[in-house]
Amino acid sequence: MFKILERKELAQDIFQLVVEAPRVARSAKPGQFVIVRADEKGERIPLTISDYDVEQGTVSIVIQAIGVSTRKICAVAHGGTLADFAGPLGKPSDFVHEDLEELRHKKLLFIAGGVGTAPVYPQVKWLNERGIKADVIVGAKTAAMHIMTDEMREVAGKLYLTTDDGTVGFHGLVTDQMKELIDSGNRYDEVIAIGPMIMMKFVALATEQYGIKTTVSLNTLMVDGTGMCGACRVTVGGKTVFTCVDGPEFDGHQVDFDEAIRRQGMYRDIEERARKIAEERAAGHKCNIGLDR
Ligand code: NAD
Ligand code: FES
Repeated sequence: MFKILERKELAQDIFQLVVEAPRVARSAKPGQFVIVRADEKGERIPLTISDYDVEQGTVSIVIQAIGVSTRKICAVAHGGTLADFAGPLGKPSDFVHEDLEELRHKKLLFIAGGVGTAPVYPQVKWLNERGIKADVIVGAKTAAMHIMTDEMREVAGKLYLTTDDGTVGFHGLVTDQMKELIDSGNRYDEVIAIGPMIMMKFVALATEQYGIKTTVSLNTLMVDGTGMCGACRVTVGGKTVFTCVDGPEFDGHQVDFDEAIRRQGMYRDIEERARKIAEERAAGHKCNIGLDR
C-alpha cells in the first residue's frame, strides 16, 4: 500500500497527489511514468511522474479526473492509500544521457499544454539543478486552468503563459507564442512538447518549417503500460513502436499523429460507456450495457 501524504486540487478536476514511494523516488528520472491502481479491483493507469524527492521518499503525480478509474484515484483522501504504485517505467528523457557541457550550450524550449504541464516540470527542474535554464511556454484554455505556474517559474529561464481566451498572458495558442518568439529572433536548438496530441502535432508541423529538432511525449496513448495490450502502438519513422516500452518520448517529426489521434478516439466511446455505468450504479440503477471497468 502507498500512502497519500498530500492531495491538492490544482484546477477543476485536476489533482496533485504526493505519494510515499521511496524506492520509486530513488530511481526516478524525468520523462518516466508509474502505474497506479486505486484498489485491488482498480484499472491500471499509467501516469507521468511530475516530481520526486529522494530525501523525503516521495513521488508526485498529477491526474485529471476524466474517466471512472481516474476519478477513483482522485477520490482517495489525504492519508489514504493506493493499492499499486509501480515504477519508474519507460525511458527517461534523452537529455538525461547527454553530455552536460554540450547540453549547456543548447537553447531548449519546452511547450506544455494543459495537464501536460505536469510532466514538463521535472524535466525543466532537472536541467535547472544542473545550471541549465530552459525557456517554457505553458498554454491553457483559461487562466483558472493553468497549473504549477509558481513551481515552473522557479526553475525555468523565461516562462511564457498563454490562454486560448486571453484571460492571462499571451492571447492565443502555444504555437502562436512559439512562432512569435522565433520570428522575433529567439534561437532554439530543440523543442520538447507535451500536451494534447493535436497540440503536439501542430508544434511538430511548425518546428519542421523552422528546422528545429522536436521531441514529443505520447504517454496518453498508454493503457496498461506493460507492452502487452498493444493499445499504445504508433508509427514513428514508418516503423511500428510501443509507446510504453520504446518511449514515451519520440522524434515529433517522425510520429504519425493522425494515426495516434485516431487510436485515442477508439477509447473515448468505451470510457464514456464506463462513465455512464458508474453513474447509474452510483444512482442505484441496474445497468445492462455490459462493460465492467
Ligand atoms: P487543452 O485542450 O486546454 O490545451 C492546452 C493548450 O494546448 C491550449 O491552451 C493550446 O495552447 C494548445 N493547443 C490545443 N489545441 C491546439 C492546436 N490545435 N494547435 C496548437 N496548439 C493547441 O489541454 P487539456 O484540456 O489540459 O488537455 C489535456 C490533454 O493533454 C489530454 O488529452 C491529455 O491526454 C493530454 N496529456 C498529455 C500528456 C503527455 O504526456 N503527452 C500528459 C498529460 C496530459
Ligand atoms: Fe499496453 Fe503499451 S500500453 S502495450
